[in-house]
Amino acid sequence: MTPLSPEEFASVTNDTFVNRLEFHPLLGSTNDRSLELAREPHLETPLIVLAATQTAGRGRGANRWWSGDGALTFSLILEPGLLDLPPTVWPRVAVVTGLTLCEVLAAQVPSASVRLKWPNDVHVDGKKVAGILVEVPPAAYPVPARLVVGIGINVNNSWRDAPDEIRDKGTALCDVGGAALSPGELLTELMNRLSDNLRQLAETPEVLAPRWRACCALTGKTVEIQQGERLVRGVCLGIDDDGALLVQQESDRIKLYGGTVAKVS
Ligand code: BTN
Repeated sequence: MTPLSPEEFASVTNDTFVNRLEFHPLLGSTNDRSLELAREPHLETPLIVLAATQTAGRGRGANRWWSGDGALTFSLILEPGLLDLPPTVWPRVAVVTGLTLCEVLAAQVPSASVRLKWPNDVHVDGKKVAGILVEVPPAAYPVPARLVVGIGINVNNSWRDAPDEIRDKGTALCDVGGAALSPGELLTELMNRLSDNLRQLAETPEVLAPRWRACCALTGKTVEIQQGERLVRGVCLGIDDDGALLVQQESDRIKLYGGTVAKVS
């Protein structure tokens, strides 16, 4: 697969709410570059930083993000104040992004099961196809509050070429659907759906919860969630209205606002 080219994304700023797209043939991490840009007081947002090749892609915690040529790896810098998103709903931006990915990717691979593995992974037929890393850059006048939403999607980077140690854990859309996709069209669809969903988060958040509950991969499963030193084990009851994972632990119903899914059975 050949790496992505800037021409593929030429119409994204015309066709979506994105104001600027910064394309890099080679970059360490689009999130690192976005955190750097987010220090500028006058930045035109929403802004996308997109890399054809990432050499130091980061996942949550100490995880790295592997992606071969043909993967879609980018970060979106948002200004929640300009989108009427109060600080109380910022923690839900990751789950709204996950829901958006599920909705858009499901249309690309209609015969497959596309599920949100709370809090930030999207799985197709049980294998990871996309990951989300939301970071909050420091903000103090004159720099407004911003969010960096990093997204990596295995699109045309066939998972047959993935390193041995991760090959059985992931997949790519081209492997599932049997054909290459247009990364530019996919990014346009994602941005349009995301702007709709973020508008709903600002105006009518209650319409989103049933949709993220419907695509939750963990509901009804026994899960182990690691939160620092704490390990929570119980049956997942789904994702609550505020984006928290609900876990039934004996007679207690616990709400989790973050953590790593250590085990699912
Ligand atoms: C995870 O699975 O833990 C999240 C992975 C997020 C990867 C994306 S790729 C684009 C952006 N830049 C990064 O360095 N990471 C995110």
